[in-house]
Order: sequence, then C-alpha cells, then structure tokens
Amino acid sequence: MIRRMTEAEFAELPALAYDWSAIEGIPGWLAFDAAELTRRLAALQEGLGVRGGALELGVYKGKYLGLLAALFGRRGEPIVGVDALLAKLGELLADEWRADAIARIEDAVLEVTGGLVRPTIIAGYTSAVSVATLRLLSPQGFRFISIDAGHDVEAVHHDLVLARQCLGEAGIIAADDAFNPRTPGVAEGIYRFFISEDSGGLQPFAHCGNKLFITTAGFYPLCLEYLWWLLRSGSDGTLQRTLARMQEDEAMNYRPMLFGSLIIPFS
Ligand SMILES: C[S@@+](CC[C@H](N)C(=O)[O-])C[C@H]1O[C@@H](n2cnc3c(N)ncnc32)[C@H](O)[C@@H]1O
Repeated sequence: MIRRMTEAEFAELPALAYDWSAIEGIPGWLAFDAAELTRRLAALQEGLGVRGGALELGVYKGKYLGLLAALFGRRGEPIVGVDALLAKLGELLADEWRADAIARIEDAVLEVTGGLVRPTIIAGYTSAVSVATLRLLSPQGFRFISIDAGHDVEAVHHDLVLARQCLGEAGIIAADDAFNPRTPGVAEGIYRFFISEDSGGLQPFAHCGNKLFITTAGFYPLCLEYLWWLLRSGSDGTLQRTLARMQEDEAMNYRPMLFGSLIIPFS
C-alpha cells in the first residue's frame, strides 16, 4: 500500500474540505495551522488508498474530533473518541451530566460534518480502554490518532503505547502539547516513549500548531517527501515562512533532528 508518489500525484491529491467556522464554534484547543496540516495528511492517505478510522484520546467538547470526522469519516470509516469526562483533574463529571456531555460531543461532530458522521464516544480513562475494544470498533485499524488526554508523563507514555498498538501501517499520530512549556509532562512522556523500546520504530516528522506528528518507519519517507513538496509549491504564509526558515537552517548546516529523525517545524 505504501509506495513512492510523484510530484504530479502530490499535485492531484483530493482537496479535502471542512467547515472551519463550525469547528471554531466548539470550545477546545485547535490551531488553524494544525487543522490544515491534518487536512493535507488526510489527502495524502486518501491518494494512497489508505483506509481505517480515526481515534482521539481526550476529546473535551469535540473540536479536533469534529475535524477528524470531516476528514477521515467521509466513507463511513469509524470515528472514535475516548474521554474520562472530567469535572476537573481527578474528579469525574457527576453521573447525571455524563450522558448529556456525550450527546453534546456527538452533536458537535454531527454539526461539523453536516449530519454525516456520528462518532462513537467511550466514556472512561484511556488506561481502562483495551486495544481489543478499539480494534473491534475499527477492524482496519486507525489511520489517524490524536493524543490529547492526560498531560502527565505516565498518561502520555501510556497513550502513545496504546496508539502505536492500534495504528495502521500508513497511520499518523498527532501528539498535542508536545513542546508546550505549560505541560512539561507531555514532553517527558514523549521522550520516555521514544528513548525506550516502546516506540516500535515510530518516527516524528513534523511539528505544527502545538502538535507533534508521528508516523511509522514505512510511511515516514513519503510523509517527509510530501511535506517538502508542499513547502516548495504552497502559497500560504505558513508554508512560505517554514520553507524560508528551513533554507536558513540548511545554509547553516543545521537540521532539526528529533530521536534520530528529521522533522519539519512549521513556523
Ligand atoms: C485538553 S482536553 C482535549 C481537547 C480536545 N482534543 C479538543 O479538540 O479540544 C483533555 C481532555 O482529556 C480528558 N482526559 C484527561 N485525562 C484523561 C485520561 N487519563 N483518560 C481519558 N480522558 C482524559 C479530559 O476530560 C479532557 O476532556
């Protein structure tokens, strides 16, 4: 399934769309640049014929999940969210509010997708969700997994291992808050994962809009080739700025390496 693609094929990838104004109306955290990169990566997978659902660990009100549903659920592929439904850290939302919280997430996703995609929401801690349960929900595996639940070192490490076990061969993980100075435990969890054997060969390839994008060793070269092409041919400000910085870095013989992999740091 993973094969080389020509620049002409990159140029002909489907132009996927989403309703940013509907997404903006949902409380939560999502930078437009991260949404755009997610859209482009979804198009790359679609052009390759990659199938599989999308999973988010840590949904809150459904902001990023709405985008994932619009991009990855277009052909009826499963969209799954896991959230403990917390009132605050360490305290679950009271029983009488839990069904309502789930219904609001479903409604948010339905609104973003024009009523086309109803997600499956698992109400519980990610540590209580098994790989078997997730595989049953998406038998083809997941081609995109967002990690944005617990922000301490153990939770992030756990969620990365869970994600790796459910990820398809051309799958992508987006780890939120990877280098956010307000959430140092996330960086520690990511470092622990990559420095140990647990990473199973996964490689980071981009950082954009507060998210670190990670993929399998088999898909990494194509992701990087595609992003270089995008930077050279794209016309929006983020792409042009990022290319200029990368060229400055190259002129100084500097390469942004992370755990042995070159990453594209979007500016
Ligand atoms: C930063 S918010 C997620 C934001 C969301 N991705 C968005 O698009 O706006 C973190 C969410 O993770 C949930 N959460 C925190 N720790 C969790 C855990 N260990 N297991 C499952 N959910 C958790 C919280 O209830 C909260 O809704």
